[in-house]
Amino acid sequence: MKIFKNISLKPYNTFGIDVKAKQFVSVNNIDELKYVLLSSKKKTKLILGGGSNILLTKPFDGIVIHINFKGIEIIFENEDFVYVKANAGENWHEFVIWCINNDFGGIENLSLIPGNVGTAPIQNIGAYGIELKDVFESCEAISLENHEIKTFSKSACNFGYRNSIFKQEAKGKYIITSVIFKLTKQNHQLHINYGTITSELKSMHIEKPSIQDISKAVISIRESKLPNPKIIGNSGSFFKNPIISKNQFNQLLENFNDIPSYPVNDEEVKVPAGWLIEKAGFKGKRFGDYGIHKNQALVLVNYGNAKGKDILKLSKLIQITIKRLFDISIEAEVNIL
Ligand code: EPU
Repeated sequence: MKIFKNISLKPYNTFGIDVKAKQFVSVNNIDELKYVLLSSKKKTKLILGGGSNILLTKPFDGIVIHINFKGIEIIFENEDFVYVKANAGENWHEFVIWCINNDFGGIENLSLIPGNVGTAPIQNIGAYGIELKDVFESCEAISLENHEIKTFSKSACNFGYRNSIFKQEAKGKYIITSVIFKLTKQNHQLHINYGTITSELKSMHIEKPSIQDISKAVISIRESKLPNPKIIGNSGSFFKNPIISKNQFNQLLENFNDIPSYPVNDEEVKVPAGWLIEKAGFKGKRFGDYGIHKNQALVLVNYGNAKGKDILKLSKLIQITIKRLFDISIEAEVNIL
């Protein structure tokens, strides 16, 4: 384990923003992590997983702790279910593929999401009708205060749309070290009703899809809409989809009869921020090295050497415009530092 000084964080954030960290250390197990925590008590810390949900707007004047714990193991199984424990530093998509290759179901709709296993519960990652909470059993996390390991059950995590206890009361207090998933071994519950999956499977000429087919369909949809961060820097959806009252939605329908929505409860609906941003004319706009992706307006992109500050400014402009045009506040999903 080596502590590096004045290192560029460009390879460690999927936005590809080039800012320096005063110190950087990659830890491979809990003992190394405890050692680093003990020896850097007074320093400002940034805990980094896959770096896929962060916008760096300035140099980091503390220690970056990169969680690199690897390992996947089956901890219990019966005829129907398997409980798999994955360590926090496992790449999310590689873990999904491992599950699919073993024919463990439940996670296939979450194929190709960037990031690591340990950061997935923080914002309850979700796509194509499934959220992490649907396959989550529990996770272990180390307390930054007393360095004790605590187990969080599903209910303790208080999962919501792109939300969990780790973004609320427990924010900045724990580092997730491993996650246990409950997956199916037979009678897989397939979720193919999310519009584009059905049509993708049709175009693949598949009538009775397996979890492998669904994963392929999701990969194909994501590749067609979302930029590959290895080629164009980005952090996936920059904003959350806003939740508005049905009253406000009905008023908007009078002016915009094509506005899509997803049900939330009796009083509220969720509106796709991507639709609002496209309607506001931002989709595909490029300002030098940064802009809004041409296929998905929810994704802000870095074409090369964009500064985090510029992307932040653009996000503020988008927020103000959406507020002015639709009287809707859209909130960043990405953590801004
Ligand atoms: N839409 C537009 N213009 C756009 C983008 C979307 O009009 O530029 C419309 C689409 O036509 C569709 C609706 O908005 O009617 C929804 O679009 P899409 O299915 O692409 O999903 P989304 O709501 O934009 C969410 C997640 C994505 C996830 C997809 C698929 C959030 C913030 N984003 O996007 O998650 O992949 O659903 O389930 O909830 C991520 O979090 O990084 C992410 C990519």
